[in-house]
Amino acid sequence: MSEPSYPAATPLLPRRRALIIGSSKGLGAALARRLACEGYSLAVTGRNVDLLDQLCAEINQASGEIRAIPYVHDARNFNQVPDLLQKIITNLGGLDLFIYNAGVLLPTTPVTYEADKDLQTMEVNALGAIAWFNAVAPVFQALRSGQIVGISSVAGDRGRVGNPAYNASKAALSTYLEALRNRLTRHGVHVLTVKPGFMDTDMLKSSPRTFWVISPDKAAEDIWKAIRARKQTIYTPGRWGLVMLIIQHIPSVIFRRLSF
Ligand SMILES: NC(=O)c1ccc[n+]([C@@H]2O[C@H](COP(=O)([O-])OP(=O)(O)OC[C@H]3O[C@@H](n4cnc5c(N)ncnc54)[C@H](OP(=O)(O)O)[C@@H]3O)[C@@H](O)[C@H]2O)c1
Repeated sequence: MSEPSYPAATPLLPRRRALIIGSSKGLGAALARRLACEGYSLAVTGRNVDLLDQLCAEINQASGEIRAIPYVHDARNFNQVPDLLQKIITNLGGLDLFIYNAGVLLPTTPVTYEADKDLQTMEVNALGAIAWFNAVAPVFQALRSGQIVGISSVAGDRGRVGNPAYNASKAALSTYLEALRNRLTRHGVHVLTVKPGFMDTDMLKSSPRTFWVISPDKAAEDIWKAIRARKQTIYTPGRWGLVMLIIQHIPSVIFRRLSF
């Protein structure tokens, strides 16, 4: 059976093209649905073939044409990245928007120390992102256009007792994105850092205490608005911006005594 292909772009019907790393469910799937509504052709990726197939079938049925094609990829397979990016760019006929959304939050407690979980967290949340950014950035820089979005977290703004590796992975991602923005803005490439609070997805199931929980659809809507407005950093929902400004200024000597 031949592989599915995207409809060709024409001068009268130019098509924007997006690649989302980690889009089988949760926020990544919500972003894929949102971008499909805007007419994007999409490459969606993840490890779960069944979920990716279901998502693409849903999007393509709703659009009445092929808008989404799945690519199975584990973000820890760094060596696959250059060839997979080239394959996706060829199939899409170019690339306008790249989103790194893949992330894990592995359950732990303030008294457990498990290197395998911490290393996996760093690999998926930070190192996979760096592997992809290094492949995508020169493509966009040469084109003098393109948008890069990284899904970080409020958790990257401070180191807390609960999950040091998750905090560190998101801090690394946020700082990497800031540096990338400082490199690429002068070349016409837009870089957006997204810091969600709590979202109602499978990831939240392992979080003991949550509040201000928003749906992945609401977060995807905020992200889409920020992409269009070419914002640099957003918190979703926005009130987390003020909360994290206060939290970032709590002196270490006090912060270390808090239980969150
Ligand atoms: N939920 C929250 O409250 C919250 C808050 C702040 C930030 N975030 C961030 O938002 C992003 C999306 O999370 P979510 O809440 O939507 O979680 P989710 O429902 O668990 O989805 C996580 C996504 O990441 C993908 N992923 C995980 N490990 C991967 C790997 N090794 N290779 C490729 N893809 C992988 C999963 O796909 P496969 O399983 O198919 O591989 C899935 O599509 C994450 O970066 C997360 O850290 C979430």
